[in-house]
Amino acid sequence: MAIQRGNPWKAFSSGPLIAPSLLACNFACMGPQLDAVIAAGAEVLHVDIMDGHFVPNLSMGPPVAKSIRQYTDHPMDVHLMVTDPAYYIERFADVGADSITFHIEATDQPQKLIDRLHERGLGAGITLKPGTPAEAIKDVVATVDMVLVMTVEPGYGGQKFMEPMLPKIAAIRKMLRDDQRLQVDGGIQPATAALCAAHGADVFVAGENIFGSGDIPRAVRELREAATRR
Ligand code: DX5
Ligand code: ZN
Repeated sequence: MAIQRGNPWKAFSSGPLIAPSLLACNFACMGPQLDAVIAAGAEVLHVDIMDGHFVPNLSMGPPVAKSIRQYTDHPMDVHLMVTDPAYYIERFADVGADSITFHIEATDQPQKLIDRLHERGLGAGITLKPGTPAEAIKDVVATVDMVLVMTVEPGYGGQKFMEPMLPKIAAIRKMLRDDQRLQVDGGIQPATAALCAAHGADVFVAGENIFGSGDIPRAVRELREAATRR
């Protein structure tokens, strides 16, 4: 599948998008696992960046994203779980991110960050922790390409999906235009993806469910089937 670089939230006109979270892959053999998720049809690579401060865990930094970019042209969405998104937006844009998502809780100047992402030709995403209400993004929501509703506390993969997030997903879908995407991240597997889709989500991040499955093509296929609203 030939995919164009650029803002991934504008590149696919409709239908659910599957975004494997590389946090759950085996870092000692990332290349073959990238090949596997791409061959399975996953549209976007989800790269979780944790600074050990905004969340109590460390993950990867710009050199890893650079290696991914050198390996594949596939769309790369960076989820920044960091205290200083303004600094890291530049670092990850420099190494080839196609979209960057930052936390509303981490900045007083969300519009400035969104505008900067667009100036650099990237997709702009904004995200909310489970305890942050939908209204927190109301001033900037019209200008983003994607909203990510966290369905676990950010920081770790393999956590249980938080069902109380479903009304927030529905509320945020009402705030969005048809050309804006709504992503969910945390505890996503077929059953929870179906619930999120029914409430308006259309981008599905999954780590453990894909990389821990032992059968990546099947995991991606089953997630897509569950996420396709009928
Ligand atoms: C959590 C990360 C997620 C995580 C999802 O802080 O943002 O992207 O990797 O992992 P699973 O799908 O295993 O819950
Ligand atoms: Zn994430």
